[in-house]
Amino acid sequence: MMTEQAQVDFKIERLPKSLQSTFRELYTNGNGHTDYLRPNKIYHGDARDLLPQIEPNSIALSVWSPPYFVGKEYEAYLSFEDWQDLLATVIRLHFPIIQPGGFLVINIADILCFRDPDMPRIQAEAVNKKRSPVTREDVLQAMTEYPTYNRYQLAKLLGCSEQTIDRRLHGNNIRGGKYEPQTRVKVVGGLIEAWGMEAGFYLYDRRIWVKDAAWENSRWASLSYRSVDEFEYLYFFWKPGITKYNRERLSPEEWSEWGSRGVWQFPSVRANDDHEAKYPLELPLRTIRLLTDPEETVLDCFIGSGTTAIAAIQTGRQYIGIELEEKYVTLSNTRIKSGTQTTYIAEPEMEPYADQSSRT
Ligand SMILES: C[S@@+](CC[C@H](N)C(=O)[O-])C[C@H]1O[C@@H](n2cnc3c(N)ncnc32)[C@H](O)[C@@H]1O
Repeated sequence: MMTEQAQVDFKIERLPKSLQSTFRELYTNGNGHTDYLRPNKIYHGDARDLLPQIEPNSIALSVWSPPYFVGKEYEAYLSFEDWQDLLATVIRLHFPIIQPGGFLVINIADILCFRDPDMPRIQAEAVNKKRSPVTREDVLQAMTEYPTYNRYQLAKLLGCSEQTIDRRLHGNNIRGGKYEPQTRVKVVGGLIEAWGMEAGFYLYDRRIWVKDAAWENSRWASLSYRSVDEFEYLYFFWKPGITKYNRERLSPEEWSEWGSRGVWQFPSVRANDDHEAKYPLELPLRTIRLLTDPEETVLDCFIGSGTTAIAAIQTGRQYIGIELEEKYVTLSNTRIKSGTQTTYIAEPEMEPYADQSSRT
């Protein structure tokens, strides 16, 4: 589908020099494609191949949740370097296709179990756990009597664990499972911010989504001071241009309950039986209602089970979905067919509301 190039409606000279040539190029030559991806369809393929086939300046909002690099099946093809490259590339490819004044919203979490081979492997002392009565002298005595025994055989002989043998011989500061790298937290916000800024976007807002506490995912909860996994982030990137600021998109109650709030609270999807990591419908619904108008096009290039498309349809927006795995394309289409009638979306009340000056 070839449509006319949008007209730039603000002075390109107001942009930083580095962005002026990109804008001029986009508004005069497009991206070289003549047959753009049509809205209201889920496309099967790699986001990196398909994003360049989207019409420049045509997307009012792109909202997605990428692979988080937390060991899910659908991200098994990625090393940490590949993962960084995927996200940086996808963010960069968004800049031409987002309409000026439009938004890219990324939902992501920090990596709570990031394997770091350089992290010192020092065993914590669980003071409330029953300590083995086996002493260093017991181990040394057994070694004298059975000089060929390894630590597993010594452990069996003395009725303790091989970690106890290790600790009695080498001190308490050697981690029992010392052959496995330690895990630490990897904060991803700085990476996302840098990739967005390099692409030409500005970080406009960041919110926190408080979900239900995932005790079952917190292998360490009872053995350390770490907190359980119970929140994620939403990073809002803005592409320079005129942003339409319409206070009537939400009711006054919605503005005060979530529209203007930095913390959103709603439960995550409990039954991830058909997809490993669906986000709840509420997440794209709120984002779409806050940042777009009916008929505008919403993109999700990691659409998984189709949640963003369902939110777009329910709010009268158009959508483009991209997904790497064919089974999820099928799942999205099935959910779109059956799930679009299920949630009622309240039209905001058109009441006058105190104006606040826009940040853009
Ligand atoms: C966190 S899930 C998104 C779930 C989605 N928000 C939902 O509610 O169902 C990330 C999705 O990205 C897909 N994916 C991974 N790499 C991709 C790539 N290179 N291009 C497009 N999709 C990809 C995965 O198959 C997975 O379905």
